[in-house]
Amino acid sequence: MDFKQELKTYQQQINHELEKYNRKQKCPEEILNESMTYSLMAGGKRLRPTLVIATYQLFKTNIERCMPYAVAIEMVHNFSLIHDDLPGIDNDDFRHGKPTNHKQFNEATAILAGDGLLNYAYGVISEDLRKSSLDELPSKLQIFQEFTHAIDRMIAGEYLDTELEGKQITEEQLKYIHENKTGAFLILSVRMGAILAGCAEDDLQRLSNYAEKIGLAFQIKDDILSEEGDEKVLGKPVGNDKEAGKCTYVSQYGLQGAKDILDKITKEAIKEIEIYGEKADFLKELALYIQNRDK
Ligand code: IPE
Ligand code: IPE
Ligand code: MG
Ligand code: MG
Repeated sequence: MDFKQELKTYQQQINHELEKYNRKQKCPEEILNESMTYSLMAGGKRLRPTLVIATYQLFKTNIERCMPYAVAIEMVHNFSLIHDDLPGIDNDDFRHGKPTNHKQFNEATAILAGDGLLNYAYGVISEDLRKSSLDELPSKLQIFQEFTHAIDRMIAGEYLDTELEGKQITEEQLKYIHENKTGAFLILSVRMGAILAGCAEDDLQRLSNYAEKIGLAFQIKDDILSEEGDEKVLGKPVGNDKEAGKCTYVSQYGLQGAKDILDKITKEAIKEIEIYGEKADFLKELALYIQNRDK
């Protein structure tokens, strides 16, 4: 399997789908549409929608069924990034190699563009629900509820991340922040793909365990990149966590300590899905990509 090529194919499919939704009128104010497009189409890695589709494909092939959910999670992810960069939260000036949304537009526009993307995500899901058959509804309503809950968890994680800046916190508190601010969306992505595919309860549990691990691993790697990444490759600032006095895996365990934990969790994630053999090769490679990525 050529992982890089497969990832690229997923990214292209997702970008194509996002373009389609993005062309529609999102909001009656043109400048807000522009601001939403600016962030949504800025060239993110599309990791969350990739997880939705790749998990779905463990069981089923007709991936168009999961596209609305793949698009919706990417919209909500971009809403979280716009708000995360705001002066009241991380106060960052660059993302995806460009000025952050509030720098390009202004603070009020960025706040509202984030709100717009959050709302559009729900619009995309409700449109799919309206078109669904009665027998599809129970599982899709379960997804709807989990979607809402994951956003609550992200918001709670972001709150604590900001509130506890500069403070001494416990290992449990730090893990809790990471599992909420970042892990919740990765878990949701995997679970949406699995539930849409109608997988069995033990598959759902195994895949949720895998997602929990890669979710935490993803944020630990983000902490590491904030310490030693290359700003040009990352497209966002390096050293900002330290400057802001953020509680991260690097501040808590040191750079090598964070890398060791990342390595351990990645191995555990891969173990969770070994039972699927070759079928899960992409998801295994994705865990390694999360560990080794440079952006
Ligand atoms: C960045 O997420 C924010 C975190 C949750 C660490 P990504 O690195 O997945 O963001 P993009 O969309 O690919 O830029
Ligand atoms: C990531 O927060 C979580 C969310 C955006 C919800 P970070 O602040 O750690 O991520 P980056 O480094 O700005 O992408
Ligand atoms: Mg942050
Ligand atoms: Mg940030």
